[in-house]
Amino acid sequence: GLVNTKELFKKAIAGKYAIPAYNFNNMEQLQAIIQACVETRSPVILQVSKGAREYANQTLLRYMAEGAVQYAKELGYEIPIVLHLDHGDSFETCKSCIDMGFSSVMIDGSHFPYEENIELTRRVVEYAHKYDVTVEGELGVLAGVEDEVVAEKTIYTRPEEVEDFVSRTGVDSLAIAIGTSHGANKFKPEQCERLPDGRLVPPPLRFDILEEIEKRIPGFPIVLHGSSSVPPQYVEIINKYGGALKDAVGIPEEQLRKAATSAVCKINIDSDGRLAMTAKIREILATKPAEFDPRKYLGPARAELKELYKHKIINVLGSDNKA
Ligand code: G3H
Ligand code: 13P
Ligand code: NA
Ligand code: ZN
Repeated sequence: GLVNTKELFKKAIAGKYAIPAYNFNNMEQLQAIIQACVETRSPVILQVSKGAREYANQTLLRYMAEGAVQYAKELGYEIPIVLHLDHGDSFETCKSCIDMGFSSVMIDGSHFPYEENIELTRRVVEYAHKYDVTVEGELGVLAGVEDEVVAEKTIYTRPEEVEDFVSRTGVDSLAIAIGTSHGANKFKPEQCERLPDGRLVPPPLRFDILEEIEKRIPGFPIVLHGSSSVPPQYVEIINKYGGALKDAVGIPEEQLRKAATSAVCKINIDSDGRLAMTAKIREILATKPAEFDPRKYLGPARAELKELYKHKIINVLGSDNKA
């Protein structure tokens, strides 16, 4: 069955790697994730966002994840699979997922005042732990859109708060803000350096803050949201075949690779998968205009997605052969 994050995070910290947390909303995304993780023998966290619950239905997604456990076995290797609520926005949402069989939830109280965040998070932990469900909390606010809250600038996590927060809430992991951001336009062009070929180089992640946090809560599992790298080759294909992505920029993979060797043991990636799928679908619809069987474009999109997920596991997260 599905597992919670406890053992996985313990091993990831000891082994200096990070577990992939990939979002899914449909069957093709789920198949690509499971295929990639089985082929690389990586544990995986399947994430369901509020948007995913609205798009696909929470019950359906929950049983798809349960089915994925069996699907992995059929593909030839049993891997640990976590079903995690991404950016839970209230106690009720978290409770609903816990009651339905999710093995992990995030309560994102990061945009509330500190004491309110603690109170809300503590309540979710109290309920979740009765059912052996692990909880992720968050301190600090990512720039960009998070939970329908738009932040102009990153509010970096304050290292002096983390010890108090984790001890008073009892959370199992902590998401922090050190300069990552959601979506495909993580930084404004004026925040970046522009290379001669037009590519944007974003400001580096604040590893100094991460180190300070690690000193305050040694060995405690840290989570990075907003960790897509926005591969230029996908942006190029999308724009070549009619897309209109402008100034797309992500987090360089070498910085995430470095983060993965620290107490960061869950790295969230959604946007890169969206770009990979969209690039492949656009290419096929443009180059094979007579095609109208969805399997003929969703199938190749799924294959592209699988390669992307394997690349992340092997070259960025280091979670291959850890299952
Ligand atoms: O954190 C955001 C994730 O990428 C999920 O996005 O709410 O559009 O499904 P979504
Ligand atoms: P990206 O938009 O960078 O893929 O981040 C996804 C995420 O943080 C999901 O919670
Ligand atoms: Na790590
Ligand atoms: Zn996120």
